Amino acid sequence: MNIVVSGAYQTNFGELWNYSLEDLIFESINGALKDASRGKKEIDVVFFGNMLSSSLSSQNHISALINQFLKSNVPVIRVESACASGGVAIAQACTALESGQYEKALVIGAEKMTDFPVEQISYALMNAASEQERDAGLSFVGLYALMANQYIETFGATEQDLALPAIKNHKHAATNKKAQFPFEISLQQVMESPLVADPLRLLHCSPISDGAAAVVLEKNNKKKNNTTKIVASAQAGETLALSERDNFFTLQATEKAAKKAYTQAGLGPKDVSLLEVHDCFTIAELLAIEDLGLYKKGEGFVAMRNGDLQMGGKYPVNSSGGLKACGHPVGATGVKQMVEVVHQLRTKKPLVGLTHNIGGTGGTAVIHILQR
Ligand code: COA
Repeated sequence: MNIVVSGAYQTNFGELWNYSLEDLIFESINGALKDASRGKKEIDVVFFGNMLSSSLSSQNHISALINQFLKSNVPVIRVESACASGGVAIAQACTALESGQYEKALVIGAEKMTDFPVEQISYALMNAASEQERDAGLSFVGLYALMANQYIETFGATEQDLALPAIKNHKHAATNKKAQFPFEISLQQVMESPLVADPLRLLHCSPISDGAAAVVLEKNNKKKNNTTKIVASAQAGETLALSERDNFFTLQATEKAAKKAYTQAGLGPKDVSLLEVHDCFTIAELLAIEDLGLYKKGEGFVAMRNGDLQMGGKYPVNSSGGLKACGHPVGATGVKQMVEVVHQLRTKKPLVGLTHNIGGTGGTAVIHILQR
């Protein structure tokens, strides 16, 4: 696979009360097109990643709204795959470009969440969980708490280990002007933050966020400055319900998508210079670095203790601040991850970046590998 990322843009993430969902979508489109030096009319096809607009914003036909904004008549396809909607939208765009039917695709991920009470948002988010989990009164914090407890019991990690990804990601976010929480936090602050679902506390959780991101992908772009390429795009799935799985600490969808992506790219985990991984809760980052093959199962938390995953470490993870501190407007996250990796590849010049985006408790996983 050889698809150029010619444009990449992210809006601010956070509680953006002065912006509507449309405002965020249109800002991200303008930003990505400007970055790609492309006009609206040059785009052949659009993929739009979004999870909640039908349930929260009462808008079921954003595709047409996007054409209205572009003043064009191109196919616009909305992609819904819970929190992986953005990543899956990129994967669909890659497939469309590889088919030869289109040359230039615009991918947008956007979500507007903060205009609603947290109960309404939690209810809407839980539409991406199984019926039994909903009926049991679980939220996503509760489901990831079950995963965290099993990980701690099986591998001997401590509750303090769960705090480490949050502390690291807030440190990274402190230099990211677009992040929702651009400040550092201490271990004590995490351990003293309110308990949401034991053992997960407020500061182990990604927040409720507004935001959008967009990328322009091109199949035959020969411009010399466009050196950032997608070399692998892979998606895999597994059960919706946690109770149907062998254990709660391995996300098979991530493992399988990673294997496919490494094969497509002709690379292995050791070749990856930096990653944006799906840390909706801190336990998710620990599971991801193991399921992506960077560390053996049950050893990721030790690497985290050693500082391996910080900027400047062996595998810098979540330079943006991740979902935890940059924010998690669910449908935008997968696209924002790619915007961040493109930014890092362009400015800091590492060679290989990987994005990892999952839906729900990992029923969907989508991975992209980018190379400079
Ligand atoms: N990290 C850091 N600070 C946070 C935060 C987070 N995750 N969530 C809220 N805050 C801050 C707020 O900014 C606010 O600060 P302020 O008082 O200085 O303004 C304070 O904590 C209280 O925020 P509030 O909005 O009242 O929190 P809440 O109790 O309504 O919601 C959670 C907290 C953790 C329950 C909510 O953020 C949540 O549900 N997160 C998970 C979202 C999710 O499930 N996503 C899908 C993943 S699969």
